[in-house]
Amino acid sequence: SGGSSWTREQTLVVVKPDGVQWRLVGYVIQRFERRGFKLVGMKMLQAPERVLAEHYHDLQRKPFYPALISYMTSGPVVAMVWEGPNVVCSSRAMVGHTNSAEAAPDTIRGDFSIHISRNIIHASDSVEGAQKEIQLWFQSSELVNWADKGHQRSI
Ligand code: PPS
Repeated sequence: SGGSSWTREQTLVVVKPDGVQWRLVGYVIQRFERRGFKLVGMKMLQAPERVLAEHYHDLQRKPFYPALISYMTSGPVVAMVWEGPNVVCSSRAMVGHTNSAEAAPDTIRGDFSIHISRNIIHASDSVEGAQKEIQLWFQSSELVNWADKGHQRSI
């Protein structure tokens, strides 16, 4: 990809309830940090039904939708915003195939999950989708700007 959004590209990553229960939050953060991406927002929360309804709007007529919502509300999640060049595409590669059974070894799903309905983690699937999802899950005041000199001094 190219264009003006390239260096400031951001994506939404959500460690799902099974990922939290399996103590994978630190591992996920480490994978993204080691790759060189910048963490610009993070919070643990019980995902609100309103947020999930919007987040999974396109899936509302799928037979698995009720199970998906009850899974996503079965425990707390950790939502994060990561930033960097091609972060959307790179994140999807690190996360692995949606269907865990088809996820390659060394991907997060490929190493830690065998079920599509318990697949540990979400990552946005397009730059446009990521922007919408970040706005849905985070207030702009919850995100830091690494380009802000005042903020860099405080690190
Ligand atoms: S993707 O990655 O968005 O292109 O995949 P897609 O196949 O469209 O699936 C979108 C989300 O629905 C979840 N999903 C399921 N959950 C439970 N049961 C079944 N059978 C199922 N099929 C798909 C899938 O994990 C995706 O969730 P997210 O949170 O987007 O990863």
